[in-house]
Amino acid sequence: MTVAYAPGKVILFGEHAVVYGQPAIAVPVTQVQARATVETGPEGQGITIVAEDLEQSYTLEQAPPDDALRAIVVSTLEHVGVGTKHDLAITISSTIPIARGLGSGAAISTAIVRALGQHFEHLLSPQTISNLVYETEKIHHGTPSGIDNTVIAFEKPVYFVKGQKIEIFSVETPFLLAIADTGIASPTKIAVSHVRRAWERERDKYEEIFDEIGTIAEMGRCAIERGEIEPVGRLMNENLRLLQLMGVSSPELEGLVEAAREGGALGAKLSGAGRGGNIIALITQETRSRVELMLRLAGAKDIIVTEVS
Ligand code: PMV
Repeated sequence: MTVAYAPGKVILFGEHAVVYGQPAIAVPVTQVQARATVETGPEGQGITIVAEDLEQSYTLEQAPPDDALRAIVVSTLEHVGVGTKHDLAITISSTIPIARGLGSGAAISTAIVRALGQHFEHLLSPQTISNLVYETEKIHHGTPSGIDNTVIAFEKPVYFVKGQKIEIFSVETPFLLAIADTGIASPTKIAVSHVRRAWERERDKYEEIFDEIGTIAEMGRCAIERGEIEPVGRLMNENLRLLQLMGVSSPELEGLVEAAREGGALGAKLSGAGRGGNIIALITQETRSRVELMLRLAGAKDIIVTEVS
């Protein structure tokens, strides 16, 4: 049996604007992960996908044509050059909450690609894995920028511009993020199409917001590369203000952001598509427990603390 994993992710700067060509920064979150196993099944069984958490199992033939898991299995087997005539059980499970901006869909697909690559002893580069996963991201997202599949396949902080070669950059001084969940599921596709409709109505306003967010992402990268943590916090606050103007925040997200700031966080913002999902807060070892306490009191359903390094 082969086993493979993939981490979750958060977007530090630039969500939504990244869909329109602006740079964005994302980092892997290794505290949560998707897992895929591949083992040979009984002869004549074909390929079965077992989604353990959902207590579902189905064969490739039974899956609807737009099933994202079926799509990633078929495209990976085709890429590896072995076709789909195999007797395999592919089992997936994940600790990444679904539809919370933590990249659950891309992580599950990445784990499947890695497990199949290992099973067929075919070396797949992070870029190849990312490209394969990008195709299934279209099923989840509609018009994905590609940032989720990139950061998850490379498992490094990335400075990402749609359609351009990935840039991995160095983190001069590692820092801590608290990731707090509103408990509200928010499908990326819906938030992204909301922004698209708004952009179509008010192009000038939205393009200006996207430009400003792009500048924030660039400045954020510079600050991280120089090891200047406080400016990173201020830029997170500024990025959130622009996301609010875009209409993708929510009272629940705002409540958690306020709580984190009251607890002493250097900055906080929603992360991912918004309207639900998670906020991220920049914390230190000193402020960590107070921020966590404030977040819990404000109703955070779950808190993950991760180091960006
Ligand atoms: O998967 P999420 O919720 O982190 O959203 C991805 C970020 C967006 O910029 C909103 C969409 C995209 O494709 O980049």
